[in-house]
Amino acid sequence: MRCNLNQTCKDIRCTFVDNMKAPIHRWYRYPCGFSYTLVEECFKHFNVKRGDLVLDPFVGCGTTSVCAKLAGIDSIGVEAHPYVAWIAEVKTYWDFDIAELRKAINDLCMELWEKLLNINESDYDLDSKPEFLLKNFSRRTLCELYAIKDAIEERDDIHFRDFCLLALAGILRKVSSSSVVFPYMLPRKRKKNKIPNTLEAFNAQIAMMLDDLQTILKKCSSPGEAKIVKGDSTKKIDFIDDNMIDFAFTSPPYLNNVDYADATRLDLYFFGIASSWREITLKVRNKLMTSSTTQVNGKRLGEELLPREELPQEIRDELTQIARKLRREKYRRSGRKDYDIVCIAYFNEMYSHMTEMFRCLRPGGYYLLVLGDSAPYGVHIPTDILLAKVALSVGFKEAKLQVLRKRGDKWKSIAGGRRHDIPLRESLIILKK
Ligand SMILES: C[S@@+](CC[C@H](N)C(=O)[O-])C[C@H]1O[C@@H](n2cnc3c(N)ncnc32)[C@H](O)[C@@H]1O
Repeated sequence: MRCNLNQTCKDIRCTFVDNMKAPIHRWYRYPCGFSYTLVEECFKHFNVKRGDLVLDPFVGCGTTSVCAKLAGIDSIGVEAHPYVAWIAEVKTYWDFDIAELRKAINDLCMELWEKLLNINESDYDLDSKPEFLLKNFSRRTLCELYAIKDAIEERDDIHFRDFCLLALAGILRKVSSSSVVFPYMLPRKRKKNKIPNTLEAFNAQIAMMLDDLQTILKKCSSPGEAKIVKGDSTKKIDFIDDNMIDFAFTSPPYLNNVDYADATRLDLYFFGIASSWREITLKVRNKLMTSSTTQVNGKRLGEELLPREELPQEIRDELTQIARKLRREKYRRSGRKDYDIVCIAYFNEMYSHMTEMFRCLRPGGYYLLVLGDSAPYGVHIPTDILLAKVALSVGFKEAKLQVLRKRGDKWKSIAGGRRHDIPLRESLIILKK
């Protein structure tokens, strides 16, 4: 297997600048979003240009799509989490008349000002809402948030509604009384800083979004088309023909036990998309590829899920070894997390994904993945190296790895795993068809 795992592209700048300062990217803080500067650097480095078609198969809240659109490049983004896909859609819809949008926002804000002055808690049946919401917001704040939501939903123009609802989504964590340790809310831990006034926070958020749109539309006279599709990238992506994609860039789920469904629980409950853990599982969690133990609990995947037969023996042996160690650790600990099952399911699903990406990409095209390794229960899983090998096994001609940064180990806090001192990394996997 030809896999230049130590070869680096030193001329790619890999600084992770805060997306929360960049126009459009800062509209919603998605806990697992990646650096837009890296996408821009890679577009330059790989000469991705107008006329090309870019694909991000795990597009999240649309970082790649926004970068492509800004550069005048057409793109497709696939995302299995319906709410997150909606965020990406709204962030990539720029066909507004700015003067009309400004006027509609002013009208809405005036209406809200009056509405929130005379708010009456009994108009909102707060006790029927999920308890999680009542733990994360004061009753007053929750009434104000619902009042804003109701006023937005009365508007006729769907794009205007979506724009305003995204502004509302963007302030949920800001006006919550609980601390947030991304990606999760901590209802029992109160915020130390003063909580902003709900309407002021909303006005500031929507004004910032309007400014961003105005700025980028001035700079970018012919933005690319961005198509966002709710779908599963571990299955056949029907609407993409063979060899259609010139360049693909993504950050797939890491094997670090982040539950992307739970990471958006506050939003899902507030917007009434789900009202219980079970409903989140049915509507979101079950649609996502396996990357966290909350997805396999009770799924009866079997005690010893095996690596799929299509994988080369070398990779199957390696995965079997890792799963064995994870299983041994599982039975030594009280939490008994199914990391062994998650690990095998992850690579089995990633095999299908790589096969599909190989089909979609044109010969000579590149597929870049930003990805971290992990060490659940102190067992190192070199996810980057293993995925590069999987890619070579489905036909990719070249696989190179560049280490982007060393990472802290979040397993201690998130997974409750025992401390370990295995150095972890975030890598860029560069695949060529
Ligand atoms: C690391 S995040 C990507 C974040 C993205 N780069 C951004 O800037 O927002 C991985 C994403 O993959 C999505 N995902 C999980 N399973 C998927 C699947 N089978 N198909 C498509 N997307 C999926 C998750 O919901 C999550 O948003």
